[in-house]
Amino acid sequence: MTLIEAEAKYIQPTYTRQPITLTRGSGARVWDSEGREYIDCIAGVAVNVCGHCHPKIVEAIRTQAETLIHTSNLYYTEPQIKLAEELANLTGLDRIFFCNSGTEAVEAAMKLVRRATGKTDFIASENSFHGRTLGALSLTHTEKYRKPFEPLIPGVTFVRYDDAAAIAAAITPDTAAVVLEAVQGEGGIHIASTEYLREVREICDSNDVLLILDEVQTGFGRTGTWFAYEHYGIKPDIMTMAKALGSGFPIGAMASREDLLFGRGEHGATFAGSPLACAAALATISVIRDEGLVERSRTLGAHLREGLQSIESLAGNKVREVRGIGLMVGIDFETGCGDLVNMARERGVLLNCTADTVLRFLPPLVITESEIDQVMAVVEQL
Ligand SMILES: Cc1ncc(COP(=O)(O)O)c(C=O)c1O
Repeated sequence: MTLIEAEAKYIQPTYTRQPITLTRGSGARVWDSEGREYIDCIAGVAVNVCGHCHPKIVEAIRTQAETLIHTSNLYYTEPQIKLAEELANLTGLDRIFFCNSGTEAVEAAMKLVRRATGKTDFIASENSFHGRTLGALSLTHTEKYRKPFEPLIPGVTFVRYDDAAAIAAAITPDTAAVVLEAVQGEGGIHIASTEYLREVREICDSNDVLLILDEVQTGFGRTGTWFAYEHYGIKPDIMTMAKALGSGFPIGAMASREDLLFGRGEHGATFAGSPLACAAALATISVIRDEGLVERSRTLGAHLREGLQSIESLAGNKVREVRGIGLMVGIDFETGCGDLVNMARERGVLLNCTADTVLRFLPPLVITESEIDQVMAVVEQL
């Protein structure tokens, strides 16, 4: 039985995979089991910001694994507390709750909001993606992800993205929080306007409603700032993070204002904030800082977008728009772009297609300018 046959036999058929088996990665490149090399422009879906197997992150994981892997939260551990301090400083928020994924960070935010406000309801956006567990799924708009699992939690209203008046109109006395992505990732790289987020902040303040920003995909330099909210001159009350935080070692976190607190025992998770996960995250943050990856995302992102702007159509599929911020970039086509993903892969570039028509670029932030030029040369000829 081949590996692909064994996957079909033993693994739940939830994933549509591309027909290659990846075996190794370094920097912005990965290799498959046939020894073919690819420039990875998807980075584990915005995870490998520091590239694959960055030596400092490998070393931090190795050293921590030799010292202490897991203890549970029955005890204090230094990496967790140090990481909480780093995240509080980076996010401008006060308190951190650790977990293991993006969806868990969103669950934590939902529970905290209900706990702290005594109110039950949420306003989320059309096109949103916040995760797959039942709470986070209730905030996720895409019908095909929700439908088989209904009824989800009640009290979630979806309104048009980038429309502050729609949020104001949807607020009721039961509204606890507005939940938004400053840049919708899975929804197709839609970037909130500055006026919108500023207005939403004001609407939340004047109605005593909390603002949760989901930075699971946009965090840690992806958009050219540490967090996307920094582009807007506003601050959320609660922020969710995951993906890039551990460079691929699973870890998520929720940051919140000082006055929004759980009581003891009201939330928790066995693996949350393990020494190993936190060591991976601390090393990730120091590599982002030491190698100037946030600035790199800004300048290389501008270079990539500029190069892609001139493309009018690929393989007969007309371009509607090239959108992006930092190294979070999408080409929106008139029709589905799955075949373009296959063509690019056959020419040595890994991309993905989101929201059916958006060819998405989320390369590691360590990608070089010449690698980006190679990617653009491949894409232009599709
Ligand atoms: C904005 C956003 N929130 C939450 C999630 C869920 O994260 P995870 O897959 O780690 O549960 C994602 C995943 O793509 C995301 O993009």
